[in-house]
Amino acid sequence: MAIQWFPGHMNLTKKAISERIKDTDVVIELLDARLPGSSANPMLAELTGSRPALKVLNKQDLADPSRTALWLAHYNSLPDTRAIGLDASETAPSRRLISACRELAPLRGGMVKPMRVLICGIPNVGKSTLINTLTGKRAAKTGDEAGITKLEQRISLADDFYLYDTPGMLWPRIIVAKSGYNLAASGAIGRNAFNEEEVALELLDYLIQHYPAAVEARYSLQIAPGMKDEQLLEEIGRKRGALLGKGRINLQKAAEIVIHDFRNSGLGRATLETPEEFATWLKAGQTLDAERQVKKDAIELKRLIKFKKVPRPEA
Ligand code: G4P
Repeated sequence: MAIQWFPGHMNLTKKAISERIKDTDVVIELLDARLPGSSANPMLAELTGSRPALKVLNKQDLADPSRTALWLAHYNSLPDTRAIGLDASETAPSRRLISACRELAPLRGGMVKPMRVLICGIPNVGKSTLINTLTGKRAAKTGDEAGITKLEQRISLADDFYLYDTPGMLWPRIIVAKSGYNLAASGAIGRNAFNEEEVALELLDYLIQHYPAAVEARYSLQIAPGMKDEQLLEEIGRKRGALLGKGRINLQKAAEIVIHDFRNSGLGRATLETPEEFATWLKAGQTLDAERQVKKDAIELKRLIKFKKVPRPEA
C-alpha cells in the first residue's frame, strides 16, 4: 500500500506561495539530506517555475556524507540551481545562504532592488530551527508532528536581503511509493497517516542492503545471508524486549523503535536514496500514475455514456 496524505490547510500555503512568487528572486528549498529526492516538493516546482533555486540539504549531520556529496553535485549541475549542505550545528549560516543567493541573482541587491528570497520546505525538515538561528531566537518547541502552521513572516538577513518564510507544505498525492515510506520514516508525515510496521519494514529492507553494519551494531545481531526485513524486525523486537507473551513479538513496538532510531541517528548516518535511485523510482511512479489516469478516464467515459452525457463512440 502506498502512503497518501491529503492536506487541508496546505491549500492556503499553496495560495500564499503562488502570490509571493511574483516578487521573489530566489527560492530556497530546504530538503532533508537523508531523502533529498523524496523531500523535494513537486508542487513547489510547479508553483515557482523557472525561479533560481537554492537547494539546502538540511540535517546533513544525520545523512551519509558520501551520498550528500552525490546529491550536491547533482543539484549543482542543474541550470539556475545551487546546493549547499547544512545542519543546526552551524551557528551563523546566513553568510553562506546570502552568498549562494547572490550568485543566483547577481542583478539584485542594494536598497533599490533588495534581494527577495522565499524559503520553503516540507514539515519537520528543520525550517523553524534554521529561521530561529538566523533571527537569533531560541528554538521554539515545535514538536515532531507534521502539519504545524504559522503565518508568513519576513526576516531581514541584511539591509538589502529579505527572507520570506512559508509554512511547511506537503503535496496532495505522493506518486512515488518509496517516497511515501521515506517521508514517513523521516517524520515529515503525521503518524496517523501511515502504518509504522510497514514503514519500518521498508526502512529495514533498504538498510539491510546499504547499511548492514550499522543495523548489526545498533541491535547487537547478525544479519544472516538472505535475511528478510520481516525476520529482522522480529529479531530486533526480541533483542529489545518488545514482547507480547508466549514468545510472540510486539511488531508495532519493534517498528516504533526502528523508526525512532532512524530519526535520531541511532542507526548512524544514513541516506535512503541516491540521485540515480530516486530518478528510477520517479519514472516508475509516473508510469503507474499515467496508467491509473487512463483507467480513471475510461471509467469516467463509461459513466458519461451510461447517463447519455456523451454519445457512444462508433464501433
Ligand atoms: P520544521 O519547522 O521544518 O517543521 O522543523 P523544526 O525546525 O521544528 O525541526 C524538526 C526537528 O528536527 C526538531 O527536533 C529539530 O530539533 C530537529 N532538527 C532541526 N534541524 C536539525 C539538524 O540540522 N540536525 C538534526 N539532527 N536535527 C535537526 P524535535 O525532536 O522535533 O524537537 P527537539 O528535539 O529540538 O525538541
